[in-house]
Amino acid sequence: MAKVLIGCETSGIVREAFLALGHDAWSCDLLPSDTPTNRHIQGDIRDVMQDSWDLMAVMHPPCTRLCNSGVRWLTQAPTGRSLDEMWRELDDGAALFSACWNVPHIPCVAIENPVMHRHAKERIENYEPPAQTVQPWQFGSAPDGPDNEKKRTCLWLRGLPQLSHTGTLDGSTARDSVHKASPGADRWKIRSKFFPGIAAAMADQWGAASQARYAAAAA
Ligand SMILES: C[S@@+](CC[C@H](N)C(=O)[O-])C[C@H]1O[C@@H](n2cnc3c(N)ncnc32)[C@H](O)[C@@H]1O
Repeated sequence: MAKVLIGCETSGIVREAFLALGHDAWSCDLLPSDTPTNRHIQGDIRDVMQDSWDLMAVMHPPCTRLCNSGVRWLTQAPTGRSLDEMWRELDDGAALFSACWNVPHIPCVAIENPVMHRHAKERIENYEPPAQTVQPWQFGSAPDGPDNEKKRTCLWLRGLPQLSHTGTLDGSTARDSVHKASPGADRWKIRSKFFPGIAAAMADQWGAASQARYAAAAA
């Protein structure tokens, strides 16, 4: 089974999907886990990824300054913040993305983030366009289930295949709770929420790909 690091995750959604399939999965975040577990490392992903891992999936690293929807703050800072702070946060976000994307010793790497603006792309070392974009509803089958949501999600992939859709929904009834989240302290958490159907597909398809790669290297 693969040794898997799920970065920037407190919810444990992706970690639990890999654990359910028998992988040696760990989550890592600067913050503690949302729920009690002995499978969460509280720390900086850039330190934790230095260990030996077969697969690293970084789920939605801080994106407020990288993503298209926030590009306006680079010319007009939100109330109480300065433009210098906005650009510094952009540099920090791009540096974290770069460190994860270019980690040399992990053979399979996935990074999940929204659509990025050009200032972010310019700052990322060895930037490539995302391998694919997915929507949660493409991985769901129940109209009332948690996956029947719209949220365009880009996946940057190295050493991993694109995800095949596993659901039967067609998107026509998909909800838009992520974009409609009302302002408040928890808004960022709702907007970065992850979905069980995509998580299960990652564990199933990427777990298998990582093991196949390992077997081929050992043969
Ligand atoms: C947008 S949230 C992603 C939440 C995730 N989708 C989940 O389901 O838990 C970004 C997360 O990245 C974490 N983070 C930021 N910088 C980090 C770093 N250097 N190392 C590890 N985690 C980091 C934040 O604490 C935050 O929990």
